[in-house]
Amino acid sequence: MSVKPGDTSTVRTGVSSLPPFLAACLGRPVPYTPIWIMRQAGRYLPEYRELRSKVTFEELTRRPDLAAEVTLQPLRRFELDAAILFSDIMTPVQGMGVDLEFAPGPVVAKPIRTDAQIDALPELVPERDVPFVLESIKLIRPNIPRGAPLIGFAGGPFTLLCYLVCGKPSKEFGPARQFLYAQPQAAERLLDKLADAMAAYLAAQARAGAQALMLFESWAGLLAPQEFSRFALRAVRRTMAGLRSAGVPLIYYVNQGSALMECVADLDVDVIGVDWRTPLGEVRRILGPSKAVQGNLDPAALFAPPAELERLADGVLEQAGSVPGHIFNLGHGIWPETNPDAVARLVDHVHERTR
Ligand code: CP3
Repeated sequence: MSVKPGDTSTVRTGVSSLPPFLAACLGRPVPYTPIWIMRQAGRYLPEYRELRSKVTFEELTRRPDLAAEVTLQPLRRFELDAAILFSDIMTPVQGMGVDLEFAPGPVVAKPIRTDAQIDALPELVPERDVPFVLESIKLIRPNIPRGAPLIGFAGGPFTLLCYLVCGKPSKEFGPARQFLYAQPQAAERLLDKLADAMAAYLAAQARAGAQALMLFESWAGLLAPQEFSRFALRAVRRTMAGLRSAGVPLIYYVNQGSALMECVADLDVDVIGVDWRTPLGEVRRILGPSKAVQGNLDPAALFAPPAELERLADGVLEQAGSVPGHIFNLGHGIWPETNPDAVARLVDHVHERTR
């Protein structure tokens, strides 16, 4: 896999008619490496901050016209190869009646820790409980520049559990991990409920027009392989099992998943999203040729001087190799302090280098 990033000779043959992002998800040849940026719609963009100064984050997610506008902002500015729905992983959980606010991270009024609370969680009926998300997707689809595909998303059940049990963002999510060990059966029941809700949610997004579906496991790295498999991965399998019939690529993002790649190798998804801590060459060796990879430049690299940023991006491309099935991205969400010019340089560089 030690191929120079500019060497796309194998990639050039039989270029797919699908948009490059979707082709790469399916491991098919592409005319250039597609790129999008996790959290590409958000606070590093002046046009987002301008809109956000007038309305709350929640209103942005609940008003389809505004959610559509914010979704499209980064695609107007940069030659990105995919759009991602503007929403939040906690939006469907609010739809299930959980009282929470964004401050700016999710804060749950009454953390869920008892059997009674878990029993009381209703099922999610997306058309009834979060209709605005589906309306947003319908508004966005016909307006995406360059025919770029739209990614729908949800939180991984375990990541949602972290916020629901802990009640607020945290580094260690102590109460959530404590819950896994102290009340494992309750944890599994909560995870099953969340897994089923996210399956319904993602299926509804695909019906509304989402062309790929991504599950964010932002807190995967809190768990050792054994607990990750027992709790997080079992729930993800449950979510993903019903989604194959949606007929769109499935992506599982495993943040801080260096020790977890063997665990996800046989998960039935098309793409594994990877943080910056593991070189993509190593990830691809573990996952094998049947899975595409998405990532994995350190978000902090966008603060490097232009030539150094290009060198760092080349390093990611080199690790990914010339075998099809790489979607360039950051290893985690872009930071609000990032200069948008650096994003423009990165997007253009990845395209030019791999064309
Ligand atoms: O551009 C996009 O990626 C689409 C929109 C999007 C948001 N949140 C908007 C948002 C997506 C895909 C998410 C996913 C999300 N939300 C995750 C998984 C991805 C990851 O970063 O790990 C997580 C863990 C959350 C939970 C969450 N929501 C946090 C921790 C925060 C705090 C602020 C932040 O940006 O980290 C939020 C609020 C939030 N979600 C904001 C945005 C733009 C900031 C709200 C504001 O404008 O005040």
